[in-house]
Amino acid sequence: MRIIEVNSYEDLSRKAAAIIAAQVIGKPDSVLGLATGSTPIGTYRYLTEWYKKGDLDFEKVRSVNLDEYAGLGGDNDQSYRYFMNHNLFNHINIHMENTNVPNGRAEDLQAEGSRYDALIAALGGIDLQLLGIGHNGHIGFNEPCDEFVVGTHVVDLGESTINANARFFAAAEDVPRQAITMGIGAIMQAKKVLLIANGPDKKEIVEKAVFGPVTPKVPASVLRLHPDCTVICCFQKA
Ligand code: PGA
Repeated sequence: MRIIEVNSYEDLSRKAAAIIAAQVIGKPDSVLGLATGSTPIGTYRYLTEWYKKGDLDFEKVRSVNLDEYAGLGGDNDQSYRYFMNHNLFNHINIHMENTNVPNGRAEDLQAEGSRYDALIAALGGIDLQLLGIGHNGHIGFNEPCDEFVVGTHVVDLGESTINANARFFAAAEDVPRQAITMGIGAIMQAKKVLLIANGPDKKEIVEKAVFGPVTPKVPASVLRLHPDCTVICCFQKA
């Protein structure tokens, strides 16, 4: 695991974008595993900027997102599909049909999980997976639990996740209580993993994940077993 500590969110975002840019330049048809949340917004802004300057081409890129809220469709502005379209996909030349987000409105979410895993396998797996980290150590929506869940699955969101995400909704009651998330299997099978963490409130959990025991109680700790994982963190106040 490589750990890069930087002093500003801008630096974190530029470095993360540079790693993704290098991946796309080196392999134009890369399968990018993408993440939502406040942390990757700056990364996506740099990727958009470099695309507009002509330095990057997403024509052949395929993408798979980590997760989606149960019950939310892409037209809902709180959905992760909406987030991805508005923060990245609408601004670059990726083909929309090459972008994938789990369908939170699928009638049978378990079946949707199996479909999503089959899709990732059919794409040949993920070349580079971008991750944020929750205050409870979640990656995607893999919440702390008793075992690492391998496949894409439905999860009950923990209180800490609901409270953290309430800032994006009118009220905490509006945050969906369930989500569908890629499991630890597809994340660990990604050829490269890039985790980004920003803010003083992430310091404690990043240290637990990086220095503590590998345990499903801190899902991000599993990344210590990944052969090519980079963590970029900034613990400064904005
Ligand atoms: P954040 O979320 O980027 O909004 O802090 C990270 C996460 O919960 O994975």
